[in-house]
Amino acid sequence: MKGVIAIYPGSFDPPTNGHLDLIERGSNIFAKLIVAVLRNPEKDSPLFTVEERKQMLTALTRPWKNVVIDSFEGLLVDYARRLGAHALLRGIRAISDYEYELQMALMNRKLEPQLETVFMLPAEKYSYLSSRLIKDVFQLGGSVRGLVPPLVEQKLHRKVNGGRPGLVRKTGESL
Ligand code: PNS
Repeated sequence: MKGVIAIYPGSFDPPTNGHLDLIERGSNIFAKLIVAVLRNPEKDSPLFTVEERKQMLTALTRPWKNVVIDSFEGLLVDYARRLGAHALLRGIRAISDYEYELQMALMNRKLEPQLETVFMLPAEKYSYLSSRLIKDVFQLGGSVRGLVPPLVEQKLHRKVNGGRPGLVRKTGESL
């Protein structure tokens, strides 16, 4: 899409392989893709700070030259207006996402009719993934290998286990 600037907004706490899959798809069709981390002081205690999430996303998206990492607060449509963005990118994993996404897209359209919301589907193998599940599974000692990039796995170890390698399962796999 020639000259189209899109914003991919979200919490990214932490970024998953599903997010990266969507970023890659977005970077292939938009001229510029701004991945924007929501700064939300009211949101219930995130695991990673906004700066940590931005650092991870910056490192992870280095291969895509038209991807920029940023953060925003307040209304998404105001942020989009300030940046001169034309579109919002959101992922839909399953029908269960659709209602919430539809509501947000229609509210954003009401607030800013010029701004289009574009939905993309992540790869099926990531369709059950969410940052919330990753945190739950990891904090309870489960393996998240293959579901988040190795960098995020490392950061999870550091954050949750204080840098220690974590529990070792019977299979010998280090968690
Ligand atoms: O990854 P998430 O938590 O599902 O992302 C939700 C996000 C950041 C897209 C949404 O909460 C948002 O846009 N917040 C900014 C405030 C806003 O504009 N709210 C009205 C949206 S209809």
